[in-house]
This record gives sequence, C-alpha cells and structure tokens, in this order.
Amino acid sequence: MIDDEDMTNRVVLVTGATGGIGRAAARRLGGRGATVVVTGRSRERGQAAVAEIEQAGGEGAFVRADFAAMAAVRGLADAFRKRYDRLDVLIHNAACSHDERRVTDDGYEKALAVNHLAPYLLTHELLDLLRASAPARVVSTSSTVHRRGAIDLDDLQLETDYDALDAYARSKLANLLFTTELAARLDGTGVTANAVHPGFVPDSGLYRDASMPVRAATAVAARLPFVGTSVQDAADGIVRLAAASEEAEINGTYFEGCERADLDSRLRDERLRERLWNASADLVGVDPAWP
Ligand SMILES: NC(=O)c1ccc[n+]([C@@H]2O[C@H](COP(=O)([O-])OP(=O)(O)OC[C@H]3O[C@@H](n4cnc5c(N)ncnc54)[C@H](OP(=O)(O)O)[C@@H]3O)[C@@H](O)[C@H]2O)c1
Repeated sequence: MIDDEDMTNRVVLVTGATGGIGRAAARRLGGRGATVVVTGRSRERGQAAVAEIEQAGGEGAFVRADFAAMAAVRGLADAFRKRYDRLDVLIHNAACSHDERRVTDDGYEKALAVNHLAPYLLTHELLDLLRASAPARVVSTSSTVHRRGAIDLDDLQLETDYDALDAYARSKLANLLFTTELAARLDGTGVTANAVHPGFVPDSGLYRDASMPVRAATAVAARLPFVGTSVQDAADGIVRLAAASEEAEINGTYFEGCERADLDSRLRDERLRERLWNASADLVGVDPAWP
C-alpha cells in the first residue's frame, strides 16, 4: 500500500502546490512525515497548504515564485538552498493554460515559460542537491493531451496561429521530452526522472483562464459524478512516483494514474529531445552541456 511509505527526513519540493492536484499531493507527502516545500504565486493559499501539510504530520514551508519570470525560478532555487541541504524529490507540477496568447516579461509564450522552461531551469539549478541526496527523484506532471501536441522548434513562441489547447498540449509534450532526455542523461547516477498524467480533474484551477466554452464544459463536467476524477484521487500517481519504494528504480517512464503507459514514439526521437534541450538552455541562459 503506497500510503505506508515513510518519508521522514526526506525533503520534497512541489511546484504549483498552492491549489489543485499539487496541493493534494503535498498534503499526502506531509502525511508520511516529509518536509514539503510548496510554491506558487498566492501567498495566502501557500500558507494554507503549509497548514494542511503540518496538520497531516509533516513539516511545511512556502516559497513564493511566479514561473513566468526565469529570475523568480532562480530566486526559488536560491531560497531553497539557503534553508535546505538536501532534496530528495522534486515535483514539477505548476502549469497554466490561457485562452489568448500571452507573452511574459522575459519575452516567452507563457505556457512554454511556466510549464516547460521553468521546470527545465529549476532542475538545472537544483540538480547538484538531488545528486548529493541520491537516491532522489524528479517527477513531472504531464497529461495525456501531450499526444496531440506538436513541437515546431522554429516557432517555439507560437507567433503564428495561437491556439490555447495546442499551446498547452505542446508544453505537456515538452515535459515528457524533457523527462525522457533527463532520465537518459542521469542514468546510473541514482537520480531518476519520470512523468505522470494525473487524470482529468474538471474542478481544479487549471481551466480558470480557458475560453468560455471550455470553462462551461468543465463546470458541467465537475458536477457529473461519472466524469473525471477528484483532486485527491488525481494525486495518487504523483505520490506513487514520488514515494513508492517499488518505483525507486524506474527511470524515463510515463504513467497514467498509477499505471505505466506506452511512450509516445516521439519520446524515442533522440534528435528531437536534444534539439528541445538545447533550445531550452539557450532561452533560459544556461550551458546545454548539463548534467
Ligand atoms: N486538471 C486537469 O484536468 C489536468 C489534467 C492533466 C494534467 N494536469 C496537470 O496537473 C498539474 C496541476 O494542475 P491542476 O489541475 O491542479 O491546476 P491548478 O489547480 O490550476 O493548479 C496549478 C498550480 O500551478 C500554480 N501556477 C500556475 N501558474 C503559475 C505561475 N505563473 N507561477 C507559479 N505557479 C503557478 C498555481 O498556483 P498559483 O495560482 O498560486 O500561482 C497552482 O498551485 C498541471 O501540471 C496540469 O498540467 C491537470
């Protein structure tokens, strides 16, 4: 039973844990005794998440960071290092989806920045702590919708024909290309990288900036007991990949809920993975020759 795993003395960082699925996962990991650091933009909801972690028996802390700004991602990593000397599990869960194309102050299409570039950079900034804490894990929350995503490396900013679902699906495909490339590069180091689709959760906050028809459809879906899953149940797959001892060795895999799923054939395209890796390094200003 995965809820029996003891996480005492483990330090976990969960991005996007001020609400939705990430907050539920953070609470569950706190319930196993972990120290859980939660991030997001809302200080109020972050502090509420910390209170839940502590009520569950863990130690909680909140660090505010808006992933639209790569400087904030670096600031999060710096703040984390000042307080902790280990990182056992890094969970990339924060994500957004916007009806209209938005551009961050750094000049990046927002879903690309928040959903892909921020986790790419955060992993880069904290990888030495993960390695020093090995065995350690990187878990990314992706989505089945990655299968409809397409990556055009010549139009990463989606300057032509923006579509909200395409932008989101592209970012979730990027999560998986990053995960499989990271897993290959870290093979044998004791740090693993895996990804999970949590399930369709119509009443999470993800759809708040969606188009009117999508918001209406998800509001209806949230009221139908046989459609989608709850925020609590959607945390199962994340918690399993983060904590279950039977998943300690797996690397470069993709789960749908708690079941291992087939990899999209594009994830085996080493050239595509490397090109995205290098383009991401270039955008966030790091040497692509890492780790
Ligand atoms: N809901 C679904 O049906 C579904 C399906 C498949 C996959 N997923 C994935 O599950 C994960 C969690 O989504 P969710 O459904 O739980 O959505 P959610 O309720 O909207 O939670 C998203 C989290 O990300 C944070 N976040 C959003 N924008 C941010 C930014 N600019 N900077 C920093 N943090 C930011 C939010 O915190 P603040 O607002 O405090 O910043 C919140 O904590 C995402 O990766 C999503 O792609 C969801």
